[in-house]
Amino acid sequence: MSTTANVGAVTVRGGISSRPNGWDVRHVPETGSTNTDLLEAAERGDAGDRTVLRADHQTAGRGRLDRRWDAPPGTNLLVTLLSTDAGASPSTLMQRVGLAAVAAVEAAVGTSLPDRLGLKWPNDVLLDDAKLAGVLAQRSTTTGAVVVGIGLNVGWAPDGFSSLSSNLGCDVSPAALLDLLLERFDDERDVGERYRERLMTLGRTVRVELPGNRILDGVARDVDPSGRIVIESHGERHVLDVGDVIHLRT
Ligand code: BTN
Repeated sequence: MSTTANVGAVTVRGGISSRPNGWDVRHVPETGSTNTDLLEAAERGDAGDRTVLRADHQTAGRGRLDRRWDAPPGTNLLVTLLSTDAGASPSTLMQRVGLAAVAAVEAAVGTSLPDRLGLKWPNDVLLDDAKLAGVLAQRSTTTGAVVVGIGLNVGWAPDGFSSLSSNLGCDVSPAALLDLLLERFDDERDVGERYRERLMTLGRTVRVELPGNRILDGVARDVDPSGRIVIESHGERHVLDVGDVIHLRT
């Protein structure tokens, strides 16, 4: 793709050696998609485990279910983490990133926000019932490496989304928020229980939009060890690994 930055060539390697826990944080002003770049760099052998690529702007940002992810230059956190750990599952990595994002926001504002801030299945971060951040994992079919990207609305949000600046009056920079997120990611090792604690979807009446324009209405009862959601609908349990969840007001 012509808009894809060569991670190895254009990288600004700010403070690699001074970062705790071996993160190799790279930054580019603009690229197509940090997920695409980091996946390609891993496949070329130009990026190893715990490489992180942040961009100020993406021209082809990728969202879930083949959607776009856009933000004006410099406004939001757009970043991807690479894992080459063969034992790490994409689902667990996404849960860790989502939980780390929640903890990073709470650290940035200096208070916990259990009623306002949390996760929506599978990995959206919600603030005041609106989407603050989305997480997208992709796995290399050749190397098995996994990239997990997060877009978090710091200073700008599309209509219907929330942002740190407008909802919390928080003026943290995307770079500073990333530092907090990487610290918290390493705290979130055993995520299962923590994920459930912050998952605002559990116990809620939900509508799930499934592939093929199918709809399932029910109550979100559980998340299984593979990260699939269990929906109870008309007395039956449905175990889903993909879908768009809407929290219905009861
Ligand atoms: C979603 O649709 O909810 C997931 C959005 C993920 C967006 C992030 S921004 C950084 C990384 N690079 C991409 O192209 N996508 C992810």
